[in-house]
Amino acid sequence: MGTSSLAGEGKTTTISNIACVMTESNKKVLLIDLDLRKPAIHKQFKISNKKGITDLLLNKDEFKNYTNDVYPGLDVITAGNIPPNPSELLNSNSIKELINELSKSYDYILLDTPPIILVSDPITIASYSDAVVLTIAYSETEKEIAKKSIDSLLRVNANIIGTILNKVPVTKQNKYYYNYY
Ligand SMILES: Nc1ncnc2c1ncn2[C@@H]1O[C@H](COP(=O)(O)OP(=O)(O)OP(=O)(O)O)[C@@H](O)[C@H]1O
Ligand SMILES: [Mg+2]
Repeated sequence: MGTSSLAGEGKTTTISNIACVMTESNKKVLLIDLDLRKPAIHKQFKISNKKGITDLLLNKDEFKNYTNDVYPGLDVITAGNIPPNPSELLNSNSIKELINELSKSYDYILLDTPPIILVSDPITIASYSDAVVLTIAYSETEKEIAKKSIDSLLRVNANIIGTILNKVPVTKQNKYYYNYY
């Protein structure tokens, strides 16, 4: 799963990019929008959000009726109709069972989530995710806030496999620019 501390740090952008890049090694990737507060994956890929993961859970239907084939090797399931109780749904056995079931058809399942400091959903999702990637926005995310997020994730034994430093300005003065090129 991908998450970050606060709104707008680039969670959706980075997980969408990771999803596209991961298909390059011929892996089958599924990206699911689990930000049931402010879903945005459908906007990122310019697809409909008329039905998504919440509807799939409710209707107990064939998952293939809910996937969008957006890119070779990449399927997307959008958030769908937002239920009145997103936290309950995200903590339900049915979503855990559904993700387990989906994992039989894909090499990787990536989950987009809301910000940690604002809602408990990402901590719930972290408790059943294999790995967590935390996005940190350059000169935006305060150190103390990032530490607080990491503490919350570790409290549920989340496996934090790395962080993404996003929004780094790329200029000719930037040493990363020189190293890279
Ligand atoms: N590396 C980047 N460089 C420039 N702009 C970026 C970068 N990453 C994200 N943005 C922009 O920042 C805004 C927020 O990005 P995004 O929606 O991915 O964040 P988010 O953390 O998912 O937000 P939310 O908390 O609302 O879900 C968008 O307008 C996006 O285009
Ligand atoms: Mg987002």
